[in-house]
Amino acid sequence: PLVGTKEMFKKAYEGGYAIGAFNVNNMEIVQGITDAAAEMRAPVILQCSAGARKYANHQYLVHLVKAALEVHPELPVALHLDHGADFETCKSCIDGGFTSVMIDGSHHSFEDNIAVTKKVVEYAHAHGVVVEGELGQLAGVEDDVNVSAEDAKYTHPEEVEEFVSRTGVDSLAIAIGTSHGAFKFTPAQCTLNEDGVLVPPELRFDILDEITKKLPNFPIVLHGASSVVPEYVKIINANGGKLDDAIGIPEDQLRKAARSAVCKINVDSDLRLALTAGIRQHFMEHPEHFDPRQYLTPARANIKAIVEHKIKNVLGCNNAY
Ligand code: G3H
Ligand code: 13P
Ligand code: NA
Ligand code: ZN
Repeated sequence: PLVGTKEMFKKAYEGGYAIGAFNVNNMEIVQGITDAAAEMRAPVILQCSAGARKYANHQYLVHLVKAALEVHPELPVALHLDHGADFETCKSCIDGGFTSVMIDGSHHSFEDNIAVTKKVVEYAHAHGVVVEGELGQLAGVEDDVNVSAEDAKYTHPEEVEEFVSRTGVDSLAIAIGTSHGAFKFTPAQCTLNEDGVLVPPELRFDILDEITKKLPNFPIVLHGASSVVPEYVKIINANGGKLDDAIGIPEDQLRKAARSAVCKINVDSDLRLALTAGIRQHFMEHPEHFDPRQYLTPARANIKAIVEHKIKNVLGCNNAY
């Protein structure tokens, strides 16, 4: 059924696991994710960005999700707006059938973030929809790597209680060292381990601990949490692609996050890499093919495989309904 995230997060918090929030942009992505989730009995969040709504059109996204629910009637699915920029975008998703929205006011001042988030919460809750807010700014690989500048962008634990109580948000996205995209760290920021693998700096679990102390039993959200699966990067580069220095969050850190107060882990880049790896590999092996069903079949299978892997080895949300 189409559901909100209240019960999902409560069970995840208590069970020491996290729900996967996967970005969807087309039919093959929706199919790959929901086929995997249903097979593993894992509740799932399908999230749409403003870019997804621009690309696919709101109605197509809603109806693709409805179709998935007809195919998998028992699967708990939340339909979520990712990074809502303003009240109007959130309202349009609430009115248009979403069960959850994010209002991303993290780039505003603390007071302006509270004001816009509170306005969205009032409207959303009146319509039975849950809201994710954000405090702190995700690191960008372009940003200054100077420590004090970085520190300033992490979520300030002393702000979270006031933000949550004044806005009434249902979950909170925080910044503890993750970032969006496939290039989360420069090689210079990483250290080489004994196997010759580049290991990025640890996420700031100390900040997460502080936040959890201030907000006991409150669901925390981790954005920018793709591990940038090295196998897919390799396949892409071996088949005509060029993704130099793509580095993500190591899986052991994501597993640690999933066991904590983190109840929602956002993944988009890993889906993009899986899909692209499938298509590139197919075209290199079958240069004579031009039927989209031929190259989108392995691409969709890769989406399903990566989501299964996340559910089982990172999120721990299998057999959760
Ligand atoms: O947080 C960003 C997500 O990866 C969505 O990306 O805005 O390109 O659709 P997008
Ligand atoms: P990744 O780019 O790490 O997949 O993060 C996606 C995300 O946070 C969507 O909101
Ligand atoms: Na958790
Ligand atoms: Zn995000």
